[in-house]
Amino acid sequence: METPEKTRNLFIVTYGCQMNVYDSGRLGSLMRQRGWAMAESQESADFIFVNTCSIREKAARRVIGHLKRLRALKKKNPGLILGVGGCVAEQEGRRLIDEVPWLNLVVGPGRLGEIPAAAEALAAGGPPVVLSGQGPGFPEIPLAGAGPAPVSSFLTIMSGCDNYCAYCVVPYLRGPESSRPKGEILAEARDLVSRGSMEITLLGQNVNSYGRPGHRGGEDFVDLLTEVSRIPGLRRLRFTTSHPKDFPQALVDLFGRLPNLCEHLHLPLQAGSDRVLAAMGRRYGWERYLGLVAALREACPGLALSTDVIVGFPGETEAEYLETVSALRTVRFDSIFSFKYSDRPMTAANSLPGKVPEEEKQRRLAHLQAIQKTITLERHQALVGKTVEALVEGFGRHPGQLTGRARDLKVINFDGPARLLGSLAMVTVTEAWPVSLIGRLA
Ligand code: SAH
Ligand code: SF4
Ligand code: F3S
Repeated sequence: METPEKTRNLFIVTYGCQMNVYDSGRLGSLMRQRGWAMAESQESADFIFVNTCSIREKAARRVIGHLKRLRALKKKNPGLILGVGGCVAEQEGRRLIDEVPWLNLVVGPGRLGEIPAAAEALAAGGPPVVLSGQGPGFPEIPLAGAGPAPVSSFLTIMSGCDNYCAYCVVPYLRGPESSRPKGEILAEARDLVSRGSMEITLLGQNVNSYGRPGHRGGEDFVDLLTEVSRIPGLRRLRFTTSHPKDFPQALVDLFGRLPNLCEHLHLPLQAGSDRVLAAMGRRYGWERYLGLVAALREACPGLALSTDVIVGFPGETEAEYLETVSALRTVRFDSIFSFKYSDRPMTAANSLPGKVPEEEKQRRLAHLQAIQKTITLERHQALVGKTVEALVEGFGRHPGQLTGRARDLKVINFDGPARLLGSLAMVTVTEAWPVSLIGRLA
């Protein structure tokens, strides 16, 4: 009797931004369409794919560490296929195989659609494969198709970045901006909702420039948001990341106007000093940023704001750093992501004079984070006693506890029955913590 061929298993490890999370999900569905299954662990996989990030040096180093540790698995199972994708793959290409000779596959983000064929060639004993450089436009990937979708899903609407901020490696690794056709995005959004997604976050490095003239494909971003928001059954809509220089009033006005557009916006500031902002090539100044915040808060008084800031950009003086601190005190963001400047290959800032010593960057970062911690806590405390809508996404840390996110993206934990998973629940905030809220079912 013929024995059926054993199903091959794939395990995907994801580092980096939400676009990598989205790409990993798409890769999973592509591979499932080709008959692969998802492995429970790296140990039980026939193919391990590590999706990587190169935004800061630490992120890239972590990836190399991970790949080196996989050598032990490769020794136990010589047929194991090891693949690397994402931005480190694009940056290093063939050099990665020189550094980690037990690798089989290196694929840049623009070539994602070619992974199934490459994996099959490797499973048949083929030689190592390196695919980099952007494919033509947005890589075409069929709809995910079968099975339930997460209650909260990502949907990438554009790729690449044309901004070339002086510190940033992304434009060199993700290629020029390219927008997906609106029809394709709407079809994918409808498919996600039909399979159970209640919340969709539209993604791009610079999502506001979706459909800009000169892009391949895409139409107007305000129209796109309006049309996605009308999909029946879509309860929540978000988009990220927005560049402050590309934020027309028509987009501001959508907050408070589209009922499912959530009251949260991530609006990276990067620095409070106009001199540093100019040196970063951000093309807005502090006054303009503050004016945008005021317009947004006027259109949507309950809007929560988060941001990214970098400390220790080359040449940043103590006084300039303190302008960032004062910006945080003025805006009072709900939360921030803060980073020490990190030299990246190819970027303009790499060759700038006045590099700030590591200990000084560390001091500024710790100081800034301590100040923001108090602001975030005060923002959370202001919600105590209020009732918020939570999208219940999973179990909390304690038995019987559920965890979800409010419309303003804040994490809220509360006791409740498991049947609430994947639904919207009204929860009254009872306690505020620096990173989350505690509540009880209202
Ligand atoms: N496209 C988004 C952000 C992409 S990267 C935007 O334009 O805002 C996420 C964050 O990483 C950036 O906002 C920035 O704060 C940080 N970052 C990028 N390059 C960095 C570098 N070389 N060193 C330190 N932080 C960096
Ligand atoms: Fe990087 Fe600037 Fe593009 Fe954001 S906008 S990805 S920070 S170059
Ligand atoms: Fe990292 Fe590339 Fe995203 S560098 S942040 S994975 S675009």
